[in-house]
Amino acid sequence: MVTLTAHGLEQLNSMVSTNNRLMDPKNGYLDRSIFSDSDLYQQELEQVFGRCWLFIGHESQVAKPNDFVANYMGEDPILLTRDSKGKLHSFLNMCRHRGNRICRADAGNAPSFMCTYHGWTFATDGKLVGVPGYKEAYFEELDRSQWGLVEAAQISSYKGLVFATWDKQAPSLEDYLGDAAWYLDLVVDRREGGTELLDGVHKWVLAANWKFGADNFGGDDYHFPITHGSVLQVNPNVRFGRINADSNRVTVNSGNGHNILGRYIGNQPANQFFSAYANMAQYYQSTLPETEQRLGAIRARQGNLGIATIFPNFTWHIGPMVRIWQPRGAAKMEVWSYCIVDKKTPEDVRDSMRRNLIRSFGPGGATEHDDMNNWIQCTSTSLSSIERKTPMVITMGLGHETRSELIPGVISANVSETNQRAFYSRWLEMMNAPSWDQITVAPKTK
Ligand code: FES
Ligand SMILES: [Fe+2]
Repeated sequence: MVTLTAHGLEQLNSMVSTNNRLMDPKNGYLDRSIFSDSDLYQQELEQVFGRCWLFIGHESQVAKPNDFVANYMGEDPILLTRDSKGKLHSFLNMCRHRGNRICRADAGNAPSFMCTYHGWTFATDGKLVGVPGYKEAYFEELDRSQWGLVEAAQISSYKGLVFATWDKQAPSLEDYLGDAAWYLDLVVDRREGGTELLDGVHKWVLAANWKFGADNFGGDDYHFPITHGSVLQVNPNVRFGRINADSNRVTVNSGNGHNILGRYIGNQPANQFFSAYANMAQYYQSTLPETEQRLGAIRARQGNLGIATIFPNFTWHIGPMVRIWQPRGAAKMEVWSYCIVDKKTPEDVRDSMRRNLIRSFGPGGATEHDDMNNWIQCTSTSLSSIERKTPMVITMGLGHETRSELIPGVISANVSETNQRAFYSRWLEMMNAPSWDQITVAPKTK
């Protein structure tokens, strides 16, 4: 059994110690306080969001020099910029003078950001390039080179997806992703020319801990026929039993806390999400030979059932969507959801993809609504005094994991909780390890 120990967790544990305060994700037990405790949440911001690679945008959002787009790394507002020379940066959206926001826009193109308080001005490469009263008030004694924007320690792209980390000790993005990249290619490398995001992003807030979203989209096929029963009832094309067991589908823990739900062996690119949009299904079918040529048959033919979470809070879904589970307090999150398409996708198919996404996974989407309701309730039972002392159980399929030469990672039935155990084990590892030296980085095998 592993208990919440290091770095203040010890103290927290002793403050509220009971026999039920277990934290044993490897064997399938979770302490509910990880979804509600504000001290743990503060530590999570430091040790998880302060050290992991976080998705901050797509290169298509900052295609031209001096483009910028606002995002967050954990709860810290950042600006993803492309400087005048074409280099990407992630900066805190914070003036170095008295801490005002330097940019109030969500996105745009500008050679510099002028703070609205006293007028300090920063270029898109972060340099402080303008200080009102530099001669008269500062007597030219301010060393402007010391007061540029605060920049993330590392920034890197994976086939158009931009990630950044505050920790200079973090492994390279490629090592961090490990075998998850093999699966991620199904989203970002299906066709020559890569991908782009459609304009706009859905953002909404819900009273649920961010981990519920990350865990669910990291491979929870168990919930589908129950949670989404009403959606299934009105869709004549879909038939599910009460247990959604499907020998063609698997969950995969690809290492480093990253989790995938996908098709293992199969030959049916269209699925229920496309049933209302024949041109989407037709698009996937017609581009399958190209994808197969790029990625091979196994990946091409499992691809469009892919749902996954890259630890900690980046998710993709066949929708086709990428999203961020933004933490907003122990019992609150903000979802940011984007429609991602191959650059070569025809206009009419883009439109269907956008509609399909909104219909199922927009803030008022049929399946999204079902999910949110459950996560809100699970968070609520982690807040009240007696309920929160009761551990949560994720033991399904324990000991029934396998491996295959065909696909990388630890494989389990599509209805299992192997991925949840892997997700929360990684979370605990990050929460307990003082530095990246003591955090496992699984080697890439494919
Ligand atoms: S706070 Fe930005 S210039 Fe003063
Ligand atoms: Fe769901």
